[in-house]
Amino acid sequence: MVRGLLLDYRVACDFIISIKRDRDAMPQCAVPGQSLKKVMGKQSSGYIGGTMAVTEILKTRRSVRKFTDRKIEKEILEDIIDCARLAPSANNVQPWEFVVVTDPEIKKKTSDATDHGRFIEEAPACIAVFCMDTKYYLEDGCAATENILLAANAHGLGSCWVAGDKKKYAEDIKLILGVREELKLVSLIPLGYSEEKVRMKKRKLQQVIHWEKF
Ligand SMILES: Cc1cc2nc3c(=O)[nH]c(=O)nc-3n(C[C@H](O)[C@H](O)[C@H](O)COP(=O)(O)O)c2cc1C
Repeated sequence: MVRGLLLDYRVACDFIISIKRDRDAMPQCAVPGQSLKKVMGKQSSGYIGGTMAVTEILKTRRSVRKFTDRKIEKEILEDIIDCARLAPSANNVQPWEFVVVTDPEIKKKTSDATDHGRFIEEAPACIAVFCMDTKYYLEDGCAATENILLAANAHGLGSCWVAGDKKKYAEDIKLILGVREELKLVSLIPLGYSEEKVRMKKRKLQQVIHWEKF
């Protein structure tokens, strides 16, 4: 009898823990759901979570360099940064800082400073990713950058990774955005609602996959 009760108690606990785990695992960036529903079509039940939705977001991301004039809601920009700050980082240092630029004048200055990022000016928003100069700042900053690209896609936004690290203009960007001297520019990410559909050719799975040995 006591054993049976204990068993029931354990089953109930496992159930509650599994619900909590599912909720925690649910990507915050996908909660507003609308855009993901578009990606998933009729299959999407409104509950956004699980491998399928996430892999769809990964597989449908492409660089976008032309945007409509539609503004991006502040909550969406905040949610994208929320996804960025949750990226993995070596020793969990989280060396990043994010500057979200929507002001047209600052955007133009940022855009003009770059070599291959002149389309930043036309984007409704641009996120600059900076990191403290830690041992793995580049890996950490790149992980955060990728989270931004994917979160943007989940919200139905297009974006493009514009180089920051190793670029001569990195110092100019720091001055334009009033960023502390010791931080390093990792990337600039213009984003907005897409006005183009670009499909760069990708290497096929069978060309890149190697089982056990190369
Ligand atoms: C480190 C890095 C730097 C990049 N810099 C630029 C850039 O300065 N300007 C640009 O238009 N695209 C830039 N890109 C975007 C690439 O051109 C793009 O990812 C690539 O062509 C593949 O296309 P896809 O993103 O649509 O898959 C950069 C991408 C990476 C990863």
